[in-house]
Amino acid sequence: MAKTLIIYGSTTGNTEMVAEQIGDYLQEKGAEVTLRDVSNARVEELTAGWDCVLLGASTWGDEEIEFQEDFEPFYHNLDQAELKGLRVGVFGCGDSSFPHYCGAVDLLDQKMTELGAELLNEPLRIDGEPDASAADIRQWAAELSTTI
Ligand SMILES: Cc1cc2nc3c(=O)[nH]c(=O)nc-3n(C[C@H](O)[C@H](O)[C@H](O)COP(=O)(O)O)c2cc1C
Repeated sequence: MAKTLIIYGSTTGNTEMVAEQIGDYLQEKGAEVTLRDVSNARVEELTAGWDCVLLGASTWGDEEIEFQEDFEPFYHNLDQAELKGLRVGVFGCGDSSFPHYCGAVDLLDQKMTELGAELLNEPLRIDGEPDASAADIRQWAAELSTTI
């Protein structure tokens, strides 16, 4: 049974909803899922023996890319963690009417690569309300479940 940690940062609840849907799917497939709001998470936990870690953050800002406010300090602490070889997936919500659509997902993706983590699939970007993207979320989780 794959032990999976999902950490998300969410202001209006959209990324939280996506995290829950991914978690539910993986649980259906037999994974043991721990879901954690980033405001209650520390980067040291990332290397606590998980088979897979999923990081989800929404994007805020306008001129510049800004992380969801609770995710910001966590993102900056990632450099202190030893993530080489960690199996990860990245997701988040945004709105394609902004210049940096899902910019936080892009930055997380880059950071994971830079730190030597192993990305298990392409990052998931959700445009607008997650309800409209339930099939995409399920498909992403399904791809992931074949690798963990
Ligand atoms: C002030 C403001 C700034 C935003 N900036 C961006 C942005 O730069 N890029 C983007 O893709 N979405 C942007 N969004 C859209 C949010 O990321 C989107 O509403 C998302 O679903 C929020 O997810 P959350 O509830 O999980 O925090 C912005 C929304 C607001 C209200």
